[in-house]
Amino acid sequence: MFNIILFGPPGSGKGTQSEKLIAAYGLKHLSTGDLLRSEIARQTPLGLEAKSIMDRGQLVPDEVVVGMISSALEANPQAKGFLFDGFPRTVAQSEALDKLLNLKNTSIGVVLALQVTEEELVQRLLNRGLTSGRSDDTNESVIRARIKEYQDKTSVVADYYSQFDKVVNVKGEGSVEEIFAALCSEIDKRMS
Ligand code: AP5
Repeated sequence: MFNIILFGPPGSGKGTQSEKLIAAYGLKHLSTGDLLRSEIARQTPLGLEAKSIMDRGQLVPDEVVVGMISSALEANPQAKGFLFDGFPRTVAQSEALDKLLNLKNTSIGVVLALQVTEEELVQRLLNRGLTSGRSDDTNESVIRARIKEYQDKTSVVADYYSQFDKVVNVKGEGSVEEIFAALCSEIDKRMS
């Protein structure tokens, strides 16, 4: 089993590259943002609670997302490996993920960290907000709040995995194909 964390700030291209990577490597895609948006669409109690937090650009409580990931891991016993997108976002989530993977006798193979400047992130998300229907993309102050939340609480996740020598920085600006090729090259080095 080979497990990957695709890491980076909001708008860095995690979702875009995840689609291509799961197709190329046959991994199961686990995006906590997608799981939360599915709860919102189904108007579950969890979704209703999460929506107001997401609309402010803040992080949903650790226990909520760890619970969702734990269920998703259990629901996919045959997976060749997992691609985590938007998770973990705090050190507590990272520690919880390590424990969950340990129970399955596996671990994180590599953390691929996409590097994109803040102004490019804001432009990408404002552009997407014109058509996506995502309420957290529609105004710049919420987008900047998401980026601040990343800087305050999530960027330290890279430090956490650096102590195990698992983090590789990848330039996240350029064409989608160029970035995909750079990510594949890093994965191939570690998978073989
Ligand atoms: P989540 O859904 O994870 O969103 P995010 O991290 O804010 O990321 P995005 O989906 O906005 O961006 P992305 O990096 O996937 O980029 P994308 O490929 O889409 O989280 C949403 C919210 O849910 C959080 O704010 C939080 O409230 C909650 N949440 C989720 N997970 C949580 C967790 N673990 N703990 C607590 N709370 C959690 O690309 C963005 C745009 O750029 C697209 O329009 C795309 O077409 C474009 N683009 C992509 N690549 C390029 C390129 N190379 N050049 C130009 N444009 C590009």
